[in-house]
Amino acid sequence: MKKELKLAGHYARRYLWRYAVGILSLLMVDAVNTLIPRLTGEVTDGLTQQTLQMDGVWQLALRIVLMGALIALGRFGWRVCLFGSARHIERDIRYDMFAHMERLSQRYYNEHKTGDLMAHFTNDLQAVRQLMGMTIITTFDASVMLVLVLYNMIAHVSLQLTVVAVIPLLVIIVGDIFFGKAMHKRFLAKQEAFSALTDQAQESVSGIRVIKAFVQEHRELAAFARANRNSKEKNLGVVRLMALVFPMLDLIIGVSSLLTLLYGGWLAIQGDITLGQFVAFNSYINMLVWPMIAAGECVSSLSQGLASLKRIRLILDEKPDIADGKDTSVTGLRGGIELRHLTFSYPGSAAKALEDISVKVQPGETLAIIGRTGAGKTTLVSLIERLYDTKTADMVLLDGKPVRDIPLHVIHRDIAYVPQDNFLFSDTIENNISFGLDEGQESHEAVVDAAKAACVHENIMDFPDQYETLLGERGVTVSGGQKQRISIARALMKRAPILVLDDSLSAVDTDTEEQILTNLKQRRAGATTLMIAHRISTIQHADHILVLEEGRAAEYGTHAELMALGGIYRSIYDKQQLEKQLREDRG
Ligand SMILES: Nc1ncnc2c1ncn2[C@@H]1O[C@H](COP(=O)(O)OP(=O)(O)OP(=O)(O)O)[C@@H](O)[C@H]1O
Ligand SMILES: [Mg+2]
Repeated sequence: MKKELKLAGHYARRYLWRYAVGILSLLMVDAVNTLIPRLTGEVTDGLTQQTLQMDGVWQLALRIVLMGALIALGRFGWRVCLFGSARHIERDIRYDMFAHMERLSQRYYNEHKTGDLMAHFTNDLQAVRQLMGMTIITTFDASVMLVLVLYNMIAHVSLQLTVVAVIPLLVIIVGDIFFGKAMHKRFLAKQEAFSALTDQAQESVSGIRVIKAFVQEHRELAAFARANRNSKEKNLGVVRLMALVFPMLDLIIGVSSLLTLLYGGWLAIQGDITLGQFVAFNSYINMLVWPMIAAGECVSSLSQGLASLKRIRLILDEKPDIADGKDTSVTGLRGGIELRHLTFSYPGSAAKALEDISVKVQPGETLAIIGRTGAGKTTLVSLIERLYDTKTADMVLLDGKPVRDIPLHVIHRDIAYVPQDNFLFSDTIENNISFGLDEGQESHEAVVDAAKAACVHENIMDFPDQYETLLGERGVTVSGGQKQRISIARALMKRAPILVLDDSLSAVDTDTEEQILTNLKQRRAGATTLMIAHRISTIQHADHILVLEEGRAAEYGTHAELMALGGIYRSIYDKQQLEKQLREDRG
């Protein structure tokens, strides 16, 4: 709680003057508002006792206009200032959250669901905005109104009458606490049902192809109907409670008005209070209702806001477990890679994904990795990129230096990476390819050049808008092989000393593959390449070939050496030759 308040204070401090002006405006509005019943009372008395002349009426009218203007001005002021601050703070926190999440490591994203993270950006931020705006307004407004109205009732009308009329209203506060809890519970249930409904719809829409292919539309529809019905029930739960609360509120106010009429009327007949005071008092009673209701609301929105703020704080407090070390002397990579007895288990997993792997790659050389699915190939290159940390620092070295001692931005800048699940943004092809460059660095010629090297230029020229063609949900859908080659072009743009291709040619035919490999050789002379593949044809010219088998280096050497060895590599080669033969015979 203390930490949450500190965090709220940290952001609120930036908008101190806005809060000050806003709260002052709020106070002004309340003060003027509570004057109005007294004015009405004065008019009533003036008219009944016939002490009011026409110029007095004019004067009163002028005062009313003035008060109206002040109220309008004040309302404008507090809305702009207080809601404005809340929006500013929302933006600041959202920015900080996003910036922070960009720094968090792969591990964090493995452990958290995208939907949950999105919920922090939407629901939690909204609750915090309410806390910093509406809750502050309500708290101030309600307490000030309560004090001012009670003061006016007691000082300008009658203490006894105030006590009599206010007692039934106290029931509102008690009811608030009781109903507030029930309402909160139903509200949460309603929100949960709604998010389950959205999840259900989202899953079905993204999986529509699979659903249709397996003819499961009716099952999906039934599941959707269930979620839909549940959401309706939970909504009705809120509606029913509300339907109960409002008539009860009316009842309480009615009782209070009745008591005011009876006791106040008697006081007026006795001459203890004037008719004007009686009229004013009735207005005051109505003015008290809102602060009474607000008191309960404040408590619940305060607790909700603080709970959301806590979840946000936990994200902001999350330390990135992959961060720069003290040593920042390395400013660039040359391309040397060394693994020394590399052993690695994923966080939270006992199984060894990699075990005792040693390889050494000089700048300019090519290392190829081959092995069955799940053998640990992607894991190995992700460690070179330092997506995860190894147990000891000396297992992965770049240019003879532990990766941990190389600034992350250098690693990310100097290793061009084509991930296995290559991801393209919903943007133009041009922007997707030049993604790794800073603004102002991009040039169309360089993009075309990279696309040509990745053998995707001709495909792109066939699209309706060529390089300006939009990809993704609202644009064209590219084939698996085109996607791979666009990703390769994106990596080639960086002209990095190390290029990592994780199974990046699997969806490309062998002729195109050969062309791309030749282009790479020319374009990247002197640079290091790490290549994961399943086809011998892709990797046979590599300087080193590592055959992974269940996380261990089963074989290691050049194509010729491994062929002579007659082990796994040889058997993969023979099998692929046979397949090729069969294809050729058939074709
Ligand atoms: N984030 C992760 N957390 C825990 N275990 C993982 C994680 N990623 C991969 N693994 C496990 O590590 C092992 C090696 O996986 P890896 O992705 O490196 O295989 P791969 O050789 O790249 O396979 P493929 O050829 O299918 O891409 C597998 O047993 C896999 O289940
Ligand atoms: Mg893989």
